[in-house]
Amino acid sequence: MSVYILGVESSCDDTSASVIEDTTILSNVIASQKVHAEYGGVVPELASRAHQQNIIPVIDTALKRAKIHKNQLSAIAYTNGPGLLGSLLVGSSFAKAMAFSLDLPLIEVDHLQAHVLANFLQKQEEKKEVPDFPFLCLTVSGGHTLLLKVNDYFDMQILGRTIDDAAGEAFDKTAKILGLPYPGGPVIDKLAKEGDPKRFAFSIAHIPGLDYSFSGLKTSFLYFVRDQLKTNENFIEENKADLAASMQYAIIKSLSVKVERAMKECDCKDFVIAGGVSANSGLRAEAQRLASKYHRRLFVPTIDLTTDNAAMIAVCGYFKYRQGDFSTIHAAPYSAARN
Ligand code: KG4
Ligand code: ZN
Repeated sequence: MSVYILGVESSCDDTSASVIEDTTILSNVIASQKVHAEYGGVVPELASRAHQQNIIPVIDTALKRAKIHKNQLSAIAYTNGPGLLGSLLVGSSFAKAMAFSLDLPLIEVDHLQAHVLANFLQKQEEKKEVPDFPFLCLTVSGGHTLLLKVNDYFDMQILGRTIDDAAGEAFDKTAKILGLPYPGGPVIDKLAKEGDPKRFAFSIAHIPGLDYSFSGLKTSFLYFVRDQLKTNENFIEENKADLAASMQYAIIKSLSVKVERAMKECDCKDFVIAGGVSANSGLRAEAQRLASKYHRRLFVPTIDLTTDNAAMIAVCGYFKYRQGDFSTIHAAPYSAARN
């Protein structure tokens, strides 16, 4: 018998709801909050207010598009963390109330695990292969950068992580310095296609083991641009595409050096990338290069499933549902990543 899961995501600035049948997406509705663009980053108070406005229409639309009545649902899965507490509270309170009123099982989901498990989602129009355990996974988002050995759905061993900023923050900060809107990743990705990645050399951090660091790179970019502006006030305008391409090159290089090291050390036959930054065309090409070089199968989510969405929360819920791993209404949201 089919399992129908309603997923609810509200950890940052996207309010999303999705209905899946087993691992197949029936609907995935995302209301992105435009209000943050002019601030160059997410404003937490504005985010939670927007979630409050969006949550009912988004869930309602997700059920309608899936042609599923709320009484047909098997369970409700929601993001419990990590994320902005005020934002998480909106989605989690709604999910808890809805599950309680419909007498449905409630499933709390970790947002970072969900990014990884997005690679197990299927679309109605095309079925795809899924990775085999154990696999190596690079999870790169706006708040996190993790290199994982994924032994099972919920057994994810951290091989490396950022010691300061996340890769997505490096993209967002680059865009901000260049006067481009938030989120910066997609804009930099587009601009970089017209630029020369070797025009400016930005230093890559040498951190021991498989950990990452992006704060030095970000600062060196800031100081470089600031110094150039002293002698040429049009420096950014005249070199925007080359600056974007060179910085994107440095971010990808930082990621790929550690992935390559992990591939040599880890006997996993599959390599997976996940999270918002995995939408980056340069990173996808580099991931493909590494996978071919080391004879690994590469899995990347479709672009719509890389950034925050509730289908990935629902599929995480589906795997927990199968294990009978349910939560109570007392589960408290958490802001920082759990180890
Ligand atoms: O996974 P996500 O939607 O949210 C978090 O969990 O953080 O990731 C958002 C991040 C932002 O930093 C955004 O700039 C970045 O993903 N991003 C990209 C691209 N699309 C989104 N970064 C580089 N290239 C892209 N095409
Ligand atoms: Zn995310």
